[in-house]
Amino acid sequence: MDKERAGIWITGANSGIGKATVKEFVSVGCNVFASARRVSELNRLTENDSESQIGIYPCNVASRANVDQTFKKISAEYNINCLINNAGITSFKSVEENSVKEIDEVINTNLLGSIYTIKAVLPHFIKISGGTIINVLSIVTEKTFTNSSVYSASKMGLLGYARVLREEVRKYNIRVINVIPGVTETPIWTREMREENSERMMNPESIARLMVSAFLQSDNLVTEEIVVRPIQGDL
Ligand SMILES: NC(=O)c1ccc[n+]([C@@H]2O[C@H](COP(=O)([O-])OP(=O)(O)OC[C@H]3O[C@@H](n4cnc5c(N)ncnc54)[C@H](OP(=O)(O)O)[C@@H]3O)[C@@H](O)[C@H]2O)c1
Repeated sequence: MDKERAGIWITGANSGIGKATVKEFVSVGCNVFASARRVSELNRLTENDSESQIGIYPCNVASRANVDQTFKKISAEYNINCLINNAGITSFKSVEENSVKEIDEVINTNLLGSIYTIKAVLPHFIKISGGTIINVLSIVTEKTFTNSSVYSASKMGLLGYARVLREEVRKYNIRVINVIPGVTETPIWTREMREENSERMMNPESIARLMVSAFLQSDNLVTEEIVVRPIQGDL
C-alpha cells in the first residue's frame, strides 16, 4: 500500500453500500481500510486489488475495545483521512415484538458503534487539522415508518450526535457529512423484497459515488447533508 495516498476507513465494508464504497474509493486512487465482522467476506474484496489499495481490518464496531485496537493498527502504518460509518443492522419488527436483545444490538451497532469510531479517529483528525467523517444514516430520519422504531432511534440519535459534532469541529477543518439514503438494493433487505422492488430501489454504487464526490470537494467547504430517494419515492 502506497502510504502517500489518501486513506479511507470504511466500516461494514464487505457487503451492500460499504462494498460498493470500497470499489469507488479505490477507483479514484485512495487506500481503503475495510472493516466488518465476517472475515471471509472481507478477504474477497482484495481479489482484484491489483494496486494493493485495500487493507483488511476485521472489526466489530459494537465493541469499543475492538474499535480502538483497529484504529491503532491502521494508524500505526497509514494516514486515515476519512472515516465512513456505514456498518449497520436493522430489525423490521413492531415495538411490541422487538426483544430487548434486538434493541441492544441495533443501538450498539448503529449508534454506539459509530460514536466509538468517531471517538477513535477524532484526536488524530484534530492533530492533522483536517479529516472527513461520513455517516450513512437513513431516510427514517426524514419520515416515519412503522416496524422500524429502534432502527429510527439509532439513526436519529447519530444524526443529532453528528450535527453537534460538526459545529464543534469546524474550527479544526474537520468535515462531518451525513448521507441520508432511501431504499437501496442490498442484502439488508430480504431476497423476496429485493426481487419485487429491484426496479424501484437505488443501487449501492450510486450512493457510493455520492460519498466519493462529497469527499473530493475542496477542503474549505462541507456538503453537510445529502438526502437521496428513489426517483419514484419511498417504498
Ligand atoms: N439498503 C438500504 O435501503 C439502506 C437505506 C438507508 C441506509 N442504509 C444504511 O446503509 C448502511 C449499509 O447497509 P447495507 O444496506 O449496505 O446493508 P448490508 O449489505 O447488510 O451491509 C451491512 C454491513 O454492516 C456490517 N456490520 C453489521 N454489524 C456490524 C458490526 N457490529 N461491526 C462491523 N460491521 C458490521 C456487515 O458486515 P458483517 O455482518 O460481516 O459485520 C455489512 O458489511 C447501514 O448503516 C444501513 O442502515 C441502508
